[in-house]
Amino acid sequence: MKNKKIIIAGGTGFIGQAMAQYFGKDNHVVILTRQSVNGHNNNPNRLLKASDGYNVTYWRWDGKHVEQHWLNDIEDCDVVINLAGKSVNCRYNERNKQEVLASRVDATQAIGQAIRHAKNPPQLWINAASATIYRHAMDRPQEEENGEISDLKQDNMPYSFLDRLRYRWKKARATLLHGKNSASYQMLNKDFSVGICQQWEQTFFEEHTPATRKVALRAAITLGAGGVMVPYFNLLKAGLGGYQGNGRQMYSWIHEEDLCRIVEWCYDHPEAEGVYNCAAPNPVTNTDFMRTLRRATGHKFGLPAFTWMLELGAGLIGTESELVLKSRWVLPGRLLRSGFRFKYLQADEALQDIVRKTPRKKYHLF
Ligand SMILES: NC(=O)c1ccc[n+]([C@@H]2O[C@H](COP(=O)([O-])OP(=O)(O)OC[C@H]3O[C@@H](n4cnc5c(N)ncnc54)[C@H](OP(=O)(O)O)[C@@H]3O)[C@@H](O)[C@H]2O)c1
Repeated sequence: MKNKKIIIAGGTGFIGQAMAQYFGKDNHVVILTRQSVNGHNNNPNRLLKASDGYNVTYWRWDGKHVEQHWLNDIEDCDVVINLAGKSVNCRYNERNKQEVLASRVDATQAIGQAIRHAKNPPQLWINAASATIYRHAMDRPQEEENGEISDLKQDNMPYSFLDRLRYRWKKARATLLHGKNSASYQMLNKDFSVGICQQWEQTFFEEHTPATRKVALRAAITLGAGGVMVPYFNLLKAGLGGYQGNGRQMYSWIHEEDLCRIVEWCYDHPEAEGVYNCAAPNPVTNTDFMRTLRRATGHKFGLPAFTWMLELGAGLIGTESELVLKSRWVLPGRLLRSGFRFKYLQADEALQDIVRKTPRKKYHLF
């Protein structure tokens, strides 16, 4: 892709910066951010500098409302990529749940509205989505056509003894306080993460943009310089580079460069529309992934983190064990059948590439 204008909402994050880097030299990238920017060309992260050949502009937005300054950019751009949303790496309390959902729905609706307002709308609107939309799958892989999407708790969580205990306690309390027909009791039967993914995609496809093609990228865990690799490297340093939970849960992943290449491929293929699973064709088990990571980083061994340790640790550091315990077994059926070729097919190739670009002190104590 060359000489295009690409808007990336939420482009200051891990995937957004990877995309800005991938597209930013040959195209003009406009990043929408809630962070303060002092001028049109000011780069709050100072990562992608004009002196290094990057053409990246930052605009402030609130992630909720259409404002004239970025509407002008939508007016004459080629592609809009929406990655905005509060990180799911948090405790799933009521406040965080509300923010995780609202940040995705509001940003998606604001972009849809802006595209409808534009006299010369973009050709393509890509919205982030997640492979987490599929159920906890230990039995078979999930593709776009035959994948099972269920937001029922029984098809997803709970996984662990502690989690089941917590879940039963919450149900007993809701029964006593509000009764079994109450909304708060019914909510307990729903899986939060899957529900978010469903509502996010539904909002996206409900936005009516007749002149703009829409693609939702159901991304698997994205591997690159940042994101999920940061906690993995910290685990390795702490000697905890073994499997997590029982290690049998499936781990679908994609290299950040392939995710960028998929965006480019969608632009180049006018027939590309709808939902695409973005996961490398060779998922591994959690045990295999951690073994491959240890090999790539030169760690001879790593202690496992059992479910109860993850439950306790997640509570302490303000996250959820589900992020590592859910079995995400997703295949990119539509992309493969449409002729897309992944550059990183095996986890060891992807991890070796990432480790090569990472200073040793990030994953070794000495
Ligand atoms: N990383 C993965 O493995 C992965 C896998 C599947 C799906 N996804 C999805 O892909 C998207 C991008 O992922 P990422 O890893 O790049 O996430 P990220 O690093 O957390 O970046 C998300 C960006 O969204 C913006 N944001 C945060 N809270 C917001 C809010 N309340 N309202 C509006 N914008 C907000 C932030 O930009 P500003 O602070 O500059 O506004 C942030 O830079 C996310 O929606 C994520 O759920 C990621």
